[in-house]
Amino acid sequence: MKFETKAIHSGQKPDPQTGAVIVPVYQTSTYQQEAIGKNKGYEYSRTGNPTRKALEDVLASLEEGEYGLAFASGLAATTAVFNLLEQGSHIVVGDDIYGGTYRLLESIYKRSGLKITYADVDDLDSFEKAINKDAKLIWVETPTNPLLKIIDIKRLSEIVKREDAILAVDNTFASPYFQKPLTLGADIVVHSTTKYISGHSDIIGGAVITSNKQLYDDLKFYQNAAGAVPGSWDCWLAIRGIKTLAVRMREHEKNALYLAKYLEKHPNVNKVYYPGLSGSKQYDLARKQMSGFGGIISFEIKGGFPQVEKFISKLKIFLLAESLGGVESLVCYPPKMTHSIFSVEEREQRGIRDNLIRLSVGIEHIDDLTEDIKQALL
Ligand SMILES: Cc1ncc(COP(=O)(O)O)c(C=O)c1O
Repeated sequence: MKFETKAIHSGQKPDPQTGAVIVPVYQTSTYQQEAIGKNKGYEYSRTGNPTRKALEDVLASLEEGEYGLAFASGLAATTAVFNLLEQGSHIVVGDDIYGGTYRLLESIYKRSGLKITYADVDDLDSFEKAINKDAKLIWVETPTNPLLKIIDIKRLSEIVKREDAILAVDNTFASPYFQKPLTLGADIVVHSTTKYISGHSDIIGGAVITSNKQLYDDLKFYQNAAGAVPGSWDCWLAIRGIKTLAVRMREHEKNALYLAKYLEKHPNVNKVYYPGLSGSKQYDLARKQMSGFGGIISFEIKGGFPQVEKFISKLKIFLLAESLGGVESLVCYPPKMTHSIFSVEEREQRGIRDNLIRLSVGIEHIDDLTEDIKQALL
């Protein structure tokens, strides 16, 4: 079955009792049991809920994985994966990552003894060096947040497998429509379903997908034991969003590619970060492992913070807001928003400059988006 068909049908059989075509919102905390130890597959909604199950199944199907697990946020999903590690374990992390993931590692997991090495996402050798015998988990985003760097998942997975470690890929920026890390050798895929998966900026959610039964059992145990599960209404909204994921991603990409090319030529722009630009370092790799480049662009405006402020204050359609991946266009200033947790030195080291702006390009008409950017850059 093709992606578009799976998005609409996988895990979403008509309701057996009524024939309802859409999976109902099972807004229930508990389930009547016929006798002690005898039930219809559900006992308590932290452990399992039919609406959540439909979401987990469609996500697994779209990522070409065996098992899906839904969480209350992207960071709750990330926490579930980090919790696979024993105290004192070693984790190797790509150095260009979402600020919240960095905060989780540095402020919570370091305190409980996790050893963390940040590897340069532009250099696979730096991963090879860092993945010594005691590394248990390798965590990367690709494309990365906020610099849209691309990591060769297949080659990284070959390095990881030599050391008997686990490779987890945060696939939030690409969505399964453009990239399927499990098919490239990753063991675990993580999503902030808040973003493209739900696609309408109306829920917070997360997911983990794997084909490894042992990992699934451990993650499932954690999901129930720790309890950071999404409510059924949020699961329903995510399912509804997924039905149009393919259509939305095509539009996001079309608009983003056009705007990236526009920005690249603009005299008030220093540099554009978008993997779909054919002159870019990441282009060949992106073409090899992705079927599209996504809807996020970062760019450096000519000047510094005053020019950033001026540009953002003039925008009329792009809304200044955290998050990404919704149908509406958003603008974000990573140094003071999504990546404010990094110190000035850490940002400099990572190339997150004071004139960096991130756009989440929505699916409005391209003429309106271009006009908005054009008048704000004047
Ligand atoms: C790449 C990436 N991963 C994970 C997260 C965390 O997701 P959530 O905000 O749903 O917890 C984000 C949030 O922006 C993100 O951009």
